[in-house]
Amino acid sequence: MALLEIIEYPHPTLLEIARPVDPSEINDAFRTTIDNMIETMLEAPGVGLAAPQVNISKRFLVVDVSSYYPDRPPFAIINPVITERSGKTTFEEGCLSLPEFREDVERSKKITVEYLDAWGKRQVITDEGLLAIVIQHEIDHLDGIVAADRISPMKRMMYLKKLKKMDRKGLRIPELSGSRL
Ligand code: NI
Repeated sequence: MALLEIIEYPHPTLLEIARPVDPSEINDAFRTTIDNMIETMLEAPGVGLAAPQVNISKRFLVVDVSSYYPDRPPFAIINPVITERSGKTTFEEGCLSLPEFREDVERSKKITVEYLDAWGKRQVITDEGLLAIVIQHEIDHLDGIVAADRISPMKRMMYLKKLKKMDRKGLRIPELSGSRL
């Protein structure tokens, strides 16, 4: 396994709509990429990582919510489609591609998502906890949307100013704690 480089906003790949994975692409080489993404996510550390964040513009992601759902080891979600959503919830989100970002983001509380697993098998998950939030955050990455696009225009502007300042000072230092997705 190998660690992959996580790209940061506003890298162009993070702004694109990623293309679907063709089921014929889901082979051992693809599973090696998934394993590398899981290793990269755990090392970061983060609770979710979408393929565009490692500069792969395809519709898949990995999640690790094992600290909240002990029976669920880290796993991959390929070509996810949210088929049902209800309610609203707010959670303080970070993001591995947004240095020092930490803001309340509103999302659907309960979702049902259909996807292919790492063996190309169709799966369905319904969740109304952390997993639902992580999946919505990562699907946003597949659509070229980052969490900073989900906050008020004023807060977004302040965050982008902060990023520019960090760039000028050469100070893009990742945070060391918290839930980053
Ligand atoms: Ni993120």
